[in-house]
Amino acid sequence: MMRTIVITGGTDGMGAALARHYLTAGDRVLVIGRSRPKFDALVAAVTGEDPSAAARAEFIAADLSLVADARRVIGHLRAHHQRVDALVLAASFIRRHRQVTAEGHEASWALFFLSKYLLVTGLAPLLRASGRPVIVNTAVPGARADAVDFADLEMTQGFTLKRSNAQQRRANELLGILATDDNPDLAYLTWGPTRLVRTSFAGEVGRGMRITAAVLGKLLGQHPEAAVRPVIRVVDDPKPGRAAYRGATPRALTVGAHDAKDAARLAAAVTETL
Ligand SMILES: NC(=O)c1ccc[n+]([C@@H]2O[C@H](COP(=O)([O-])OP(=O)(O)OC[C@H]3O[C@@H](n4cnc5c(N)ncnc54)[C@H](OP(=O)(O)O)[C@@H]3O)[C@@H](O)[C@H]2O)c1
Repeated sequence: MMRTIVITGGTDGMGAALARHYLTAGDRVLVIGRSRPKFDALVAAVTGEDPSAAARAEFIAADLSLVADARRVIGHLRAHHQRVDALVLAASFIRRHRQVTAEGHEASWALFFLSKYLLVTGLAPLLRASGRPVIVNTAVPGARADAVDFADLEMTQGFTLKRSNAQQRRANELLGILATDDNPDLAYLTWGPTRLVRTSFAGEVGRGMRITAAVLGKLLGQHPEAAVRPVIRVVDDPKPGRAAYRGATPRALTVGAHDAKDAARLAAAVTETL
């Protein structure tokens, strides 16, 4: 059966590696990103081998740091598709400094959490229509249980890349509690690679970090195709419930003192700001 796979950040890096894989495998692939030329090049490369791929690939242009764009994507998917079998959340733009979007949200929180919250909750009916739905959230598991600053979610005080990164990673684990409570058939994975992956590292990270990533990536980095192999295995045989992985290795889920309460608190706070 042809699966429907939605991939945010499917134009580059690991998202693109997955998009190429699923198009080659005969699935329908809906790519969300900003760059249509990158999408066109990806589809052209696959179509060279399999002319049927073009008809199974769709690009939805969106800036997922904008709530309005995330909502538009959800509306589009709900209007034009009956089912989503896999939702891969891999859009990434790393910011070293605090930035505010045109809508007034802190940009990293908006891209790495608010858009994911909206997509996971907004696409729930389409995921429910799948026999074996799976969400792969490329938020590296293992952040501390208390990494979410409920008093200042958009980090108006004390923003650092490290704090912002830990907060969104923990929030994405809590999102898994909400999603699997809502749909017990859903497999929800927080996943990160085991080591550096040679990707575009989209972001405003400064020259030093960009050069380090490029050099280390070249020397030690894993190829995106190799890095996503474990993701492909899990999507092919999803197990209901939450799980965390680094590469192909399952990791224990972080357990805090009041996870269910924290998840509900996060949902309430986010609903209030959206
Ligand atoms: N690379 C690594 O070593 C590594 C390590 C740990 C975790 N990860 C995680 O793995 C995931 C994938 O990372 P990657 O390195 O493969 O990514 P990447 O090569 O940097 O590509 C980023 C993707 O996100 C899209 N994107 C960026 N900003 C966007 C926005 N505002 N709206 C919509 N799409 C946007 C880009 O699309 P356009 O170009 O079309 O805008 C591109 O497809 C991320 O969650 C990242 O945190 C990566």
